[in-house]
Amino acid sequence: MLHLKSADLMKEKIESLVIPVCEDKNIHEDKTILSLIKSAKKVKAFKGDKDDEVILYNLSEVSAQIIIFLGLGKLEKVNMESLRTMAGMAVKGVIKKKHTAVLMAVPLAAKVNMDMQNILEAMMEGTFLGNHLFDRYKKEKKLQPLERIDFLVTSDEAKKYRRLPSRISAVCQGTILAREWVSMPPNDKRPELFAKSIARLARKENLKVTVLGEKELKQKKFGAMLAVAAGSRNKPRMVILEHTPVKAKKTIAFVGKGVTFDSGGINLKPSASLADMKMDMSGAAAVAATLITAARLKLRLKLVGIIPIVENMPSGAASRPGDIIKSYDGKTVEIGNTDAEGRLILIDAISYTIKKYKPQTLIDLATLTGACVVALGEKIAGTFSFDDKLAENIILSGYKTHERCWRMPMPEDYKELIKSDFADLNNVGSTRYGGAITAALFLSEFVKDTSWAHIDIAGPAYTKKESSYCGVGGTGFGVRLLFDLMERL
Ligand code: BES
Ligand code: MN
Ligand code: ZN
Repeated sequence: MLHLKSADLMKEKIESLVIPVCEDKNIHEDKTILSLIKSAKKVKAFKGDKDDEVILYNLSEVSAQIIIFLGLGKLEKVNMESLRTMAGMAVKGVIKKKHTAVLMAVPLAAKVNMDMQNILEAMMEGTFLGNHLFDRYKKEKKLQPLERIDFLVTSDEAKKYRRLPSRISAVCQGTILAREWVSMPPNDKRPELFAKSIARLARKENLKVTVLGEKELKQKKFGAMLAVAAGSRNKPRMVILEHTPVKAKKTIAFVGKGVTFDSGGINLKPSASLADMKMDMSGAAAVAATLITAARLKLRLKLVGIIPIVENMPSGAASRPGDIIKSYDGKTVEIGNTDAEGRLILIDAISYTIKKYKPQTLIDLATLTGACVVALGEKIAGTFSFDDKLAENIILSGYKTHERCWRMPMPEDYKELIKSDFADLNNVGSTRYGGAITAALFLSEFVKDTSWAHIDIAGPAYTKKESSYCGVGGTGFGVRLLFDLMERL
């Protein structure tokens, strides 16, 4: 769907053309584009301010049915994210006009002080992700996504970056896969169904797939995970995906929290907090989509994805506050609160991963705490690690992809807060303050000496507000982040 195109604008037949414009400086070179911008600037209301838009029809210079000019604001403010946003808005505009294809004019690298590669990556991401509509559950599909998105470049650039469109498409397709899983209603992704859905797509890409059912989980003594699953009639699954290229030296493991619905269990959540708890498997979705995409792109790293999947429900069979369970690792945990279920499934998954795969690096993604959302808001993920280098790389990837991550502390003395009078640990802190930190410290008790990072994505995994390149629902947060990160490891 994404294509680099070098063409003479005057001679092309174009459905729709998008031209990004800066408010204070010219960022194009092509004479036809410059003359079109002149026409656009005759419209008084259009100055090229950020998010300014003007649409012109049937201009004489080119045979484009519509031309959309989009403001980028001041030149100094142009960066990858502003290009992503502009590109997403462009595609949404073209979709609304019922067109099927768009040609995007690309700013000159030298004029915007950026790498051409970064410009193209950002614009491709914005268009591809902005082109996604989640209307699977609507009878009437009001809008149709575009079939073709072209980027106007020189023939040298088209040659130099020829591999870019397929790579960016694949990673964005992974993001969209994660988005759709997260947005899917919980009745359609009960653990068995979600596991099957992952396994089917993973097998298609030749990943090694192992699915552990309830019986195997019992045999292997995944006590913490089973304690969470106990309340639901929908039985748990553990999905293990392995990507094993020849000659790979390091193993990187990703663990993703897969709670397909988090009611809170016996510590039932209040009504308002229940509605969106289908998103509590966002970590699992990101990990599964990352592994599937890595296999598709034939990445040269050995990767393992470990995905514990449960439904957290109250019932006569559910775990009670006060219960003491034995984790896979052997440590006992007092369940202070059945709503702190994520850390219980994660410790078993983490212990198993370390024992079985001895990865050089282990990263878990989880919608773990409301406290993290209180701390960092809905758009930034909390990042916890004892490994400075790993933390730094995650922060850098967050910056590049705009899947932003902020490092949080794990002070030794806070471990006091997760002590239990009766068991080795309590699954909740003795105070509600610092809830994201105590959750991370709880996980840290199970990572041994593995280089590990925990990314709390409770805020950014889901959105109730549409933005320029993401609709309402799952955001797919984590997939683009991990792909960027894998290049740094
Ligand atoms: N899944 C929730 C965390 C969450 C909250 C995700 C908001 C997305 C948005 C998690 O299982 C949970 O319930 N955490 C509790 C922990 C508490 C009981 C210690 C929380 O954050 O309130
Ligand atoms: Mn919970
Ligand atoms: Zn949860």
